[in-house]
Amino acid sequence: MRLSIFGTGYVGLVTGACLAEVGHKVVCLDIDAAKIDRLNRGELPIWEPGLEAIVSRNVAEGRLEFTTDIARGVAHADIQFIAVGTPPDEDGSADLQYVLSVAESIAREMNTFKVVVNKSTVPVGTADKVRQRIEGILRERGVALTFDVVSNPEFLKEGAAVGDFLKPDRIIIGAGSENARKVMRELYEPFNRSHERTMFMDVRSAELTKYAANAMLATKISFMNELANLSERLGADIEEVRKGIGADPRIGYHFIYPGCGYGGSCFPKDVQALARIADDVGYEAELVKAVEAVNNRQKNVLFDKLASRFGGARALGGKVIAVWGLSFKPNTDDMREAPSRTLLESLWAVGAEVRAFDPVAMEEARRLYRSREAFFLASDKYSCLDGVDALCICTEWQAFRAPDFDEMQSRMRARVIIDGRNLYHPERLREMGWVYDSVGRPSSLVA
Ligand code: UDX
Repeated sequence: MRLSIFGTGYVGLVTGACLAEVGHKVVCLDIDAAKIDRLNRGELPIWEPGLEAIVSRNVAEGRLEFTTDIARGVAHADIQFIAVGTPPDEDGSADLQYVLSVAESIAREMNTFKVVVNKSTVPVGTADKVRQRIEGILRERGVALTFDVVSNPEFLKEGAAVGDFLKPDRIIIGAGSENARKVMRELYEPFNRSHERTMFMDVRSAELTKYAANAMLATKISFMNELANLSERLGADIEEVRKGIGADPRIGYHFIYPGCGYGGSCFPKDVQALARIADDVGYEAELVKAVEAVNNRQKNVLFDKLASRFGGARALGGKVIAVWGLSFKPNTDDMREAPSRTLLESLWAVGAEVRAFDPVAMEEARRLYRSREAFFLASDKYSCLDGVDALCICTEWQAFRAPDFDEMQSRMRARVIIDGRNLYHPERLREMGWVYDSVGRPSSLVA
């Protein structure tokens, strides 16, 4: 089948490449000409394992192309995906201007029937707005064309995007007409070979499913972080509690890892947006708001623990602090809403100097904090520790899980680790003479 995708960001690019991979003919569009030029030269705007190989193979085999030519994109296919950003507005609600402007472009250029598929994460009711916008333009143009608007939210995780897309748990399709359902079933047919993964529902339920999934996952994390903070104060160990509750199949072991807070381009934005969606219909989403508040507080725990080790925040002035891990999670260079940023900014605010290392996010860190003086990016995890007063760990990259502690100790001015991801055994580190604080576990002050 043929399809066009507006937006070559994370979702658009992965969707385009993977749908080409299963045999469809895909045109990807973006209004950013520089981005399209780079894609046409084979340069990817994002770092995502496996994506480059799929993009170059499908371009070479003629199933995938990139263009800024809207008329060509609209003419190419009956199926038109909208996969552009929905950044938070001032008040946290999703900003729909990009989604609606794509809808407008499609309406201006279309001359035959279209299925307009919304893949961006959008508030409940957006499909109706897209429909109205298209109807308005068609009326202006004085043409009588038919179209369907479908909601097909995306659930891929950064760092595992290609695998998630090619082997989805489920494909959610919100469609109002039999015709749209038929087109979407055929499009996703290659993914349903082993068993049926497509779930059809009404459009609003599909739109809400995306928010419900992300808010539920964020709730699990904030709940665990709250219990971790409580464990510290009660003298319990959250890692034991985690295993203890995970054994209950109704709870399960997944996604209940405490830490220094969730980040990324989805959870913070979607949790906030869901609270605004509720406000808009006059419902106070108390739990959803608390999930966000707990997370904002959690992003400060590393700094607070560090400060209390040094006898207060002000005592950190002039200290040199190493930070391992800058991306919001492993296997991505994405630093959006990353807990590392809260830590870096708090450290700079009290006059501390930062030496940082991340296996892939160095370029991104340089871009974000180019003008910062008290920021040094080290070339590897050990040289990052040269002369530092303490190490803080923000991201659980594999490379940090089993470091050479002797090497670390020989480089650091003091043996202090503040670990936001519970990577090491407190007992073992204590035996080696480290001051080691983690999240929700007994601290291990050297006696
Ligand atoms: C998420 C959803 O998983 C995905 O389905 C959706 O489409 C987009 O949002 P992503 O943002 O890539 O994907 O990250 P994810 O792997 O879910 O992690 C989100 C954050 O939660 C990270 O900061 C991670 O460190 C944190 N996290 C995750 C925890 O703190 N504890 C956990 O147990 C799991």
